[in-house]
Order: sequence, then structure tokens, then C-alpha cells
Amino acid sequence: MVTSLCESPRAINSIYFYDEIGSELFERLCEEETYYLFRTEKSILAKHAQSISDVTGPVSLIELGSGNAEKTTLLVGAYVKAHGQTTYAAIDINHSILKRAAENILSDASDLGFLGIVGTYQTGLLQTKKLTGRKLLVSLGSTIGNLYDGELNNLLLSTSSALSVGDYFLVGVDLDKETGIMEAAYNNQTAILTNFSALQHVNQRFKGNFDLFRFRYMAFYNQSMSRMESYVQAVQEQTVNLRKLNFSFHLAKGEMIRTEIMRKFTLSALNEIFVAYGFRPVQHWTDPENRCAVSLFQLSDEPTKVDSERPV
Ligand SMILES: C[S@@+](CC[C@H](N)C(=O)[O-])C[C@H]1O[C@@H](n2cnc3c(N)ncnc32)[C@H](O)[C@@H]1O
Repeated sequence: MVTSLCESPRAINSIYFYDEIGSELFERLCEEETYYLFRTEKSILAKHAQSISDVTGPVSLIELGSGNAEKTTLLVGAYVKAHGQTTYAAIDINHSILKRAAENILSDASDLGFLGIVGTYQTGLLQTKKLTGRKLLVSLGSTIGNLYDGELNNLLLSTSSALSVGDYFLVGVDLDKETGIMEAAYNNQTAILTNFSALQHVNQRFKGNFDLFRFRYMAFYNQSMSRMESYVQAVQEQTVNLRKLNFSFHLAKGEMIRTEIMRKFTLSALNEIFVAYGFRPVQHWTDPENRCAVSLFQLSDEPTKVDSERPV
């Protein structure tokens, strides 16, 4: 936290978006007219969950950052229908959203073993080691798009070591597209609220004094990095103090703090990343407008070409 706030530009980790209020706001964001990501990915899963389960055969599903698992119910339902008794482990940092995931997933699936794991991706994955048989790791909602290079590198290294050759990774991503469509998704009332709520979460967790009335929000597409970026910008100069961390810093008027990145992928760039970590592309499913993709990879016996010294 302190390190990222000392960078230029200063940044906070997107993990702070997801306390109880932040998770509720994310659910509201998914209902925003301009936020196409949730509906589009849901429509891909509604149409293709059965094919995905045909391609992989029976598996135990492990989801990284399940949120309320609303979309995952479609996937899990297809596995139960095609293969009978199925295990689904949901990992999320936020315990309140995992309760909702359990309610959603258990409401209409009788042949299901459900495991809710409160933890980070890495600590959660360690707890799934006891699952036997073929595994399907799942990451939806373009969650991998929120990770910086080093974080994505850590995640892909831990996933490839948590899986065995032949196991699968199903990943939902947002595809690069017309700038106006992407910028509209992150410039609405709920997007603004989620960002201010992240500052409030930092205040609560670290006894901070971010004054929400002294910031404005902005989100725009950074073409050279192929990512949307959101910021809060100081409208007055101020000193922020995080008492629990014994850390304070000065913000000049106009200075920006990056709150989140949302990477936008092409299918070939996505393939390239996963291949570097020992996965082989199996199949991509997209919507008719090519807004989002749900992509299946399989861990091969090719050695990982990336190590912690050389991130993606
Ligand atoms: C963008 S939301 C996606 C939720 C859901 N998968 C969807 O597609 O609607 C990201 C989810 O990952 C969780 N999360 C974020 N960072 C995490 C981390 N480092 N470890 C575990 N969970 C995390 C959040 O609490 C949140 O529920």
C-alpha cells in the first residue's frame, strides 16, 4: 500500500474496492446501462456453457474472485447437467460476497459440492490442493485485467503450479474495442461511487483521512497500454495521513491517484500471455459484437517460459 502510494503516479491497489459496500456497488455497476461487460459475458456463458463442459469433460471448478457467482451458476449448472455430481470451490477476498455466492449457487443445484474459501487468489489456491481429479480454474469479469504486470505474473505462476498437466483455465476478458464504448462503461454514477468507496475503505482500514470532497473522478483509455485507467484527482492541495501505517504524503492540486486499471485484450495477445506460462489455447467463445471473450486454456507439459524475474 505504502509502496504504491509512493509511485509516480501514486496508486492504490484495486483489492480495496472490495469490502462489503464496494462489493454491493460492483453488483450495481453490473446493472448500469453502459457497463456492457457483465451482460455480455453472461450471454456468452448462457449460450456456450454446455459446449465448455463438453470440451473439458467432468472437472472440479475453482473460481478466482467469484463475487456473487451469478454468472458461474450457468457454468456450474451445465457441468451438473452433463456430468452429474460436481464440486465448485469459490475463492474471494470478501466474505460477505461469498455468502451471496453460496446462496446463488446452491439455490438450484442439488448435485453440487460447494466450498467457499475466504482468501486471496494465492492463499485460496493452496486450500484447493486437496481436490482430486481434473480441475478447471475459472476467472470471470475480466478480473485478470485489473492486475498489474507483476500481479498477473504472480497469479499465473501460482495457477500453473496449482494445476497438473491437462487441467484447464477458463478466463473471461474484455476485448479491445471502440474507445467511446469502453470509456462510457467506467464513466457513470456507480463507477464514481465505487472509486470513492475504495478511498473510504482505505480510510477505515488504515485510519486514514482521505477527504472525499477534495477529489474528482476520471476514467479514460490509455491506448499505448491497451487499458482503461481510473483516477481520483485532488481538487485542492492536501496532506493525506494513514495513521495505522505511520505514513503521510502531500498531494498537489491536480495530482492524480490511480485507483484501477482495466486491461483490454486481443485474442492473440491473450494467447501469447498464457502460452508463456505453459498453457495451450483450446477455444475462445465471443459475443456477436466481439466485445468480450471467454477463453479456455489447458496446462501443457511445455515448461513455463516466464519466471518471477521476467514478468509478463
Ligand atoms: C471484478 S470482480 C468480479 C466478480 C465476478 N467474478 C464477476 O465476474 O462478476 C472481482 C472479484 O474478485 C475479488 N478479488 C479481488 N482481488 C482479489 C484477490 N487478490 N484475491 C481474492 N479475491 C479478490 C473481489 O472481491 C471481487 O468479488
